[in-house]
Amino acid sequence: MAAVTMKRVVSGMRPTGRLHLGHLVGALDNWVALQRDFDCYYFIADWHALTSHYAETAELVENAMDNVADWIGCGIDPERSTIFAQSLVPEHAELYLLLQMVTPIPWLERVPTYKEQTEQLADRDLSSIGFLGYPLLQTADVIIYDANIVPVGEDQVPHLELSREVVRRFNNFYGEVFVEPQSMLTPTPRLPGLDNRKMSKSYGNTIDLSDDAAAVVKKVRQMYTDPKRVRADIPGTVEGNPVFIYHDAFNTNTAEVDDLKARYRAGAVGDVEVKTKLAAAVNARLEPIRERRAAALARPGYLREVVMEGSKKARAQAIETMIRVREAVKLVY
Ligand code: TRP
Repeated sequence: MAAVTMKRVVSGMRPTGRLHLGHLVGALDNWVALQRDFDCYYFIADWHALTSHYAETAELVENAMDNVADWIGCGIDPERSTIFAQSLVPEHAELYLLLQMVTPIPWLERVPTYKEQTEQLADRDLSSIGFLGYPLLQTADVIIYDANIVPVGEDQVPHLELSREVVRRFNNFYGEVFVEPQSMLTPTPRLPGLDNRKMSKSYGNTIDLSDDAAAVVKKVRQMYTDPKRVRADIPGTVEGNPVFIYHDAFNTNTAEVDDLKARYRAGAVGDVEVKTKLAAAVNARLEPIRERRAAALARPGYLREVVMEGSKKARAQAIETMIRVREAVKLVY
């Protein structure tokens, strides 16, 4: 099979809620494209969701399955890629434990996301070992599959740096056991939220992949634009304007986008026209996703089967790695 010679990609997402356009352009479009040239493993990082949301687990699995429906909607193909749930492959935890033995605590304390999140999420108690260990669990997630490439957002690059350091230290003690994974940055720039702040579920400024056409129209109508343009005949700024960032990201009719930009700059177009055309473009992009998502959800038991089958396949791979690891560590009875 071709998969044997293909390099391996591993990436995961925490199931903390519905997926939105930011996930589409920031991750999923890239995940879909990578399927062509790589042996891809995409997983629900449910344990990682617990590192900060350990007190709210009621919707974890529901969110996970909803996310998988979106992945399939976006074009992740379960026939080509392995879709699984982290907690269904308990070998990740065994490897995580062994990695903990060789990882100095200061390596984890100096990871930028650790400090940032502890400060930003001040209302949560993040003084747990689990939260400190987040990037080390992530290391186990990827090296257990001998991943070469890990597509992630910019904030995750230091996690992969830590992964490589931990791999070097582990290999130094026990021999050449693991491959050093490389991060791959997603080429697309970040989309702002509808209100021009960072796009986030907690700000309520997202367009979700599961929003219907009417919801998209309504949300686009409320989008932040150039605040100086109180009338349609006032020249406006296109650069950094969320409405045009979205046009650039979703409107495939570049002649229409160029025309709208020119007229916006000249004060010769109303916001209503700009937004109506944007909503149509976003809906055109989302419609096939909605259809595939609905088709997946309409098949009874299908999504669960995808996750169970994928997890079985991932687990077989992880079990093989752990045999190799136990031999290297000389834990063989
Ligand atoms: N930390 C990643 C995020 O927040 C999720 C994640 C967990 C992950 N394990 C991973 C991503 C392994 C890539 C590889 O986006």
